[in-house]
This record gives sequence, structure tokens and C-alpha cells, in this order.
Amino acid sequence: MSVTISMGHPGAQPFGQASYPGLQGKVVFNTGAAKGIGRAMSHAFARHGTRLMLLDMDAEGLDAVRVELLAAFPTLEVQTVVASITDDLAVEQAVSAAVARFGRVDVLLNNAGVSMNKPSLEVTPAEWRRAVDIDLSGVFYCSQAAAKRMVAQGGGVILTTASMFGLISAARRAAYCASKAAVVSLCKTLAVEWAEHNIRVNSICPGYIQTALVEDLIHRGALDVDVITRRTPLNRLGSPQEVAEMALFLASDCAAFVTGHAMVADGGFTANGF
Ligand SMILES: NC(=O)c1ccc[n+]([C@@H]2O[C@H](COP(=O)([O-])OP(=O)(O)OC[C@H]3O[C@@H](n4cnc5c(N)ncnc54)[C@H](O)[C@@H]3O)[C@@H](O)[C@H]2O)c1
Repeated sequence: MSVTISMGHPGAQPFGQASYPGLQGKVVFNTGAAKGIGRAMSHAFARHGTRLMLLDMDAEGLDAVRVELLAAFPTLEVQTVVASITDDLAVEQAVSAAVARFGRVDVLLNNAGVSMNKPSLEVTPAEWRRAVDIDLSGVFYCSQAAAKRMVAQGGGVILTTASMFGLISAARRAAYCASKAAVVSLCKTLAVEWAEHNIRVNSICPGYIQTALVEDLIHRGALDVDVITRRTPLNRLGSPQEVAEMALFLASDCAAFVTGHAMVADGGFTANGF
């Protein structure tokens, strides 16, 4: 089936959505599910007949996503939990709740994250800690809690939405780049360590994707979309759906030999040294 994705930028082509029948019935735990990339992943996995546990701090956004998912997929089994991934006890309880409801956790999608775009001389310790707590430590708490269940059940998949700024650097993003680089490294470490338990761990490294996070940066004057577009060989921003398609592949058995990888979806941004 070919669908047209609304990008708001010229040059985006309709793409045929892939299909991974093996995902049917899998239990997917998705953090940061209320908006942007996490929301798009919820739709993509729901389309594949998975069962969903959705976590976010934004109760209203989470409820709206649950309602729109049930409208689109009336037989979907979905549960939501309002929590911060920085709260390790709440994360543990949320994963327990997923197992109580669905019996297992097959796929963890670490999407919750925040941007941090500010001159390094002005970043306060509280701002630094917030970025590291959410973009790095929270990912570890969720991964560890999910992996304990995956070990017991004989395997699973963990995907973390890192960033191309986990692989390259840019001014005024010290806490973000450092946290995302650390999370790419964390995923590689966990991939090596948990391979014996049949747990695959990969990170996804998007470039500029048109979500609330990026629109907020544009709105605050922290990002010039024309400069970004010109710097990107494909000459546009990406869409959340394009990132979600990559997650489907990595979560599926088609990627059975892929682990410890950081996969880029950035329109060529990181390849462009000019
Ligand atoms: N949009 C981009 O261009 C882009 C590029 C590269 C990487 N990323 C990464 O992708 C992920 C999703 O980004 P997005 O653009 O969809 O952002 P977004 O702001 O649209 O959505 C992020 C979601 O995470 C939730 N969240 C934030 N902190 C949380 C916490 N402590 N606990 C639970 N939920 C929390 C928010 O409430 C929100 O619903 C982030 O990790 C981000 O760093 C985004």
C-alpha cells in the first residue's frame, strides 16, 4: 500500500509501508508515546497488530493518542501509564503493569527525550542534569527493567531513539550531544552483554524530523529551518513516519542479525562534510 505522508516540505515522496507479519501479537512498551516520533511508532506498531503499553509524562497527550489509536484500530489492546522515565521506581512499576496485563514485553521503544539547545557557557547544572537524566539515565532504567523480563522470557528487542547528534556534534547542544552519544554507547554495551539472552539492542539516529520538539526550537529561534534544509542533501526534514518504519524493520525478525548498531535516518546530513 502506498501512502502519502504529510511533511510540510517539498520533495517528500509517498512511500510504500513495509509489512512484518511476525510482529503480530508482540507486546510493545513505548516511552514518549504521546507526541512526535513515539506517537508515529505507536501507529506503525498498532498497524502490525501488536499490543501496546504507552508511557509518557503528558497525560492529556497520552489519552489523545490512545483515543486516536482505538479509532484507527478498534481491536487494538492498549494501556497507558503516566510516568517519567527518570523515576526508576515508576518505570519498574510500569513494566510490571505491562507484564500483568499482557504477560510479557517483546519490544521496548525508548522514545522519550528532550532537546537541549543553549550556549554552553549559560547551561545551568539543573538544565544539564535534566538532559542527562532523561536522555541517558531514563533510557537505562527502562532498558534494565524491560530486559529483566526479556531474559526470563527468552529474548526481546530494545530500540532507542538516539539522534544523529549521538554521532556528530554541533555548537550549543553540549548536554544533548553528550547524552545522545552516551546512549548510543550504552546501547552497544547492552547489545554485547545481553546477546546471550537473545536480546537485540540498537539505536536509531534521526536527523531533523518534523515534530513538536523541532517546531519548538524553530519557534524559539534556536533553529533556522532553511539552513538545516540546505545543509541536508535530501533537502528537507524527515517525518516521524519515516523513523517509525525503521523501527518496524529493526524490531522485526528481518533484522535478526542486527544488534549493537546505530542506524541513521537523516537525509544525508551526517554524510555531508561540506
Ligand atoms: N525531532 C527530531 O528532529 C529528533 C531528531 C533526533 C532525535 N530525536 C529524538 O527522538 C525522541 C522523540 O523526539 P520527538 O521529536 O518525537 O519529541 P517530542 O517532544 O515531539 O515528543 C517527546 C515525548 O517524550 C515525552 N517525554 C519527555 N520527557 C519525558 C520523561 N521524562 N518521561 C516520559 N516521557 C517524557 C514528552 O512528553 C513527549 O510526549 C527524543 O528522544 C529525541 O531526542 C528527535
